[in-house]
Amino acid sequence: MNAYIRSLGAYLPRRIMTNNDLAKVVDTSDEWIFSHTGIRERRIAEPEQAASDLGVHAARAALERGTLLSPDGQAIDPQDIDLILLATSTPDYIGLPSTACVVQDRLGIEKAGAVDMVAACSGFIYALETARNYVESGSARNVLVIGAEVYSKIVNWKDRSTCVLFGDGAGAALVSPSPEGSSSRIMRSVLGSRGSGVEHLLRKAGGTRKAFVPGETPEEELYLSMNGRQVYIFAVQAIIDTIKELLEINGLTFDQIDHVVPHQANRRIIEASCKRTGWPEEKFFMNMDRFANTSAASIPIALDEMISKGILTRGQTVLTIGFGSGLTYGGNLLVF
Ligand code: ACO
Repeated sequence: MNAYIRSLGAYLPRRIMTNNDLAKVVDTSDEWIFSHTGIRERRIAEPEQAASDLGVHAARAALERGTLLSPDGQAIDPQDIDLILLATSTPDYIGLPSTACVVQDRLGIEKAGAVDMVAACSGFIYALETARNYVESGSARNVLVIGAEVYSKIVNWKDRSTCVLFGDGAGAALVSPSPEGSSSRIMRSVLGSRGSGVEHLLRKAGGTRKAFVPGETPEEELYLSMNGRQVYIFAVQAIIDTIKELLEINGLTFDQIDHVVPHQANRRIIEASCKRTGWPEEKFFMNMDRFANTSAASIPIALDEMISKGILTRGQTVLTIGFGSGLTYGGNLLVF
């Protein structure tokens, strides 16, 4: 049995923060941010919105559209969801309970298993590959995969080198068995980790490595910190290596791919990967100009936008590529 993406949904908070808005908060400019990242603006969640709130909106959109991509035209009853996999690094609660449980309750799905997956910006790639394996093995019939992030609540708004890069948002994909005779499917994925790079992108305190001690823990250690240069070098190589490996294990060439959907961290990372390989940049979908880096949500948000705008149509082949803290990386090969 093959698994495929039956439908997608996304949610972006209404509030827009432009680069010029940011320049009022930290010493930066629209010119610096756009020229170094390709970002013009990002969405920011309301103070009361947590990852689950964004995730629920995206999941509802995916469930409502459950028939759109489905050649069998059958609507899906949410009670037929067996498993909810929620990728996030900005959960509602630290460690427990999982944000997936909050989403499961809010969606009124009674018997589904629900668990969070932490692979930072590669989280959606990992969760989608896990969903594929559950569906293909028959252990689950329908799996709801969600990427939901509220980075605005974990970035240091005094650190111009990081706070300009991120935005909030959520995306969701419903994974089901491919209909009889359909070529739509999730093909073999690549998942990787380079744990030696842990210190390049992390929240130093607040976990069990360096527990939060009131009055002692420096405030900046509770927020995200990043060695941008090291992550940049890693990311360019991860994109190149992952695309090559994905093509090789699935027996395809780059020419046979209709779209590449990379994690939307930085336009320059994608440009550098294309320059080194000769791959045409036009095949790489980018929307970081409007939404910035929404971590585990960026790929499903991009896929949803491509479908809504008719850029991605049934029968097309898509490579997704993620990279991020861990350092993690990976990619999926999807036939829509
Ligand atoms: N505005 C103005 N100046 C800035 C800003 C800013 N927002 N940020 C940094 N600068 C300054 C620096 O202070 C430095 O000044 P100096 O030379 O006087 O010291 C100068 O700009 C150059 O800084 P660099 O860090 O060398 O800039 P670089 O060209 O490397 O760009 C960037 C920085 C955009 C962060 C880049 O390194 C990058 O994209 N790295 C990858 C980051 C990434 O993708 N992270 C997400 C991974 S996904 C995840 O898991 C969350």
